Amino acid sequence: MVAPTVTLNSGFEMPLVGFGLWKVNNDTCADQIYNAIKAGYRCFDGACDYGNEVEAGQGVARAIKDGLVKREELFIVSKLWNSFHDGDKVGPICRKQLADWGVDYFDLYIVHFPIALKYVDPAVRYPPGWMSADDKLELSTASIRETWTAMESLVDQKLAHSIGVSNFSAQLLMDLLRYARVRPATLQIEHHPYLTQKRLVDYAQKEGLTVTAYSSFGPLSFLELNLKDAQDTPLLFEHAAVTAIAQKHGRTPAQVLLRWATQRKIAVIPKSNNPTRLAQNLQVTDFELDAAEIDSISALDKGLRFNDPLAYGLYVPIF
Ligand SMILES: NC(=O)c1ccc[n+]([C@@H]2O[C@H](COP(=O)([O-])OP(=O)(O)OC[C@H]3O[C@@H](n4cnc5c(N)ncnc54)[C@H](OP(=O)(O)O)[C@@H]3O)[C@@H](O)[C@H]2O)c1
Repeated sequence: MVAPTVTLNSGFEMPLVGFGLWKVNNDTCADQIYNAIKAGYRCFDGACDYGNEVEAGQGVARAIKDGLVKREELFIVSKLWNSFHDGDKVGPICRKQLADWGVDYFDLYIVHFPIALKYVDPAVRYPPGWMSADDKLELSTASIRETWTAMESLVDQKLAHSIGVSNFSAQLLMDLLRYARVRPATLQIEHHPYLTQKRLVDYAQKEGLTVTAYSSFGPLSFLELNLKDAQDTPLLFEHAAVTAIAQKHGRTPAQVLLRWATQRKIAVIPKSNNPTRLAQNLQVTDFELDAAEIDSISALDKGLRFNDPLAYGLYVPIF
C-alpha cells in the first residue's frame, strides 16, 4: 500500500504517512529504508541530528538501483540543525546533507528548532548536537528572519522543493508569515492525544501550512530515553478510550492513533524497527473514525509534552 498524498502550499504532493528516522540505528538504517520502500513507504523524515543520513541515502540508492522506485516517487525530508542557523551556513550544510543522502534536492527541508546555536564546523564534529566541546550550550545571534531568508534561497537554487519549520509556536509563525517570501509548506510538531495543540494546529492549517505530527504514540518513544514523564504516564496503547475504538474497527491502537491524525489532514511519520509494525503503520488511511471517536481521543489532551529541551537539561525554554 502506498499512502495518499496531500498537496502542499508549494504545489508539491507529500505522502500523508512517512517513516521517521530518529533513533534508527546506523547499522540497520540502509536495510530499514530499503525494506520500508518495499513495503510502500515513499516519504522519509530525516535530519542532520539523527546522524544516519549517509546510511539512509544508501538504502535509497539501493532501492533505486534495484528498480523498486524512482527518485521522483520519493519524498525526502531533512532538517537544518540549530548550529547552522547563521545565514551563510544554511546553503553549505544543506549541500553537505544532500551529498550524504546522495540526492540533488530535498523534497522538504525544515528548520528543526527555533533555536540558533553557535556554528560548529562539520569537519570538527558532525552531527554537532546541542552542546559545545566544553559541554556548554552556546547560542548564536542569528534571527529566525536571517535563517529563513537563507532557507528561501535553497528553494531559488532548487536544492529544496519546499521548506518548512518545526517546533515553532503560533507567535513565531505569525511573525514569520509577515515577511516570508516563500511561505513554510509544513509545520512539524509533537502531536498526540496527550498534546493536541489544537490552537496551533488550527492556526497553521488556516494559514495553509500542512501540519505533520511527530511522536504520534506519545510516551512510548520517550521510554527508551528514560524520560520521567514518559515513565509516569499511562501508555496510549493501553488507554481504554483508544483500545475500545481499536477493537470496534478491528485495528491496532497504533493504527487508531495514526488515523486520528491523518483523518484531520495531519501527516504522520511513525518510526518502527519491526517489519510487521512498519507495514501496519502504513495502513492508516483506509478506515474512518466517526466524529465522536475523534473527539473522545482528543479529549485525552493534557498538554503533556515530552520532546522539550528543558526535559533533557538544556536551558532553552522555547515552549
Ligand atoms: N521535529 C522534531 O523535533 C522531531 C522530534 C521527534 C521525532 N521527530 C520525527 O518523528 C518521527 C516519529 O517520532 P518518534 O520517533 O518520536 O516516535 P513514534 O513513531 O511516535 O514512536 C516510536 C515508538 O513506537 C514503537 N512503534 C512503532 N510502531 C508501532 C506499532 N504499530 N505498534 C506498537 N509500537 C510501535 C516503536 O518501537 P519499534 O521500533 O520497536 O516498533 C518506537 O518505540 C521520528 O522518527 C522523527 O523522524 C521529529
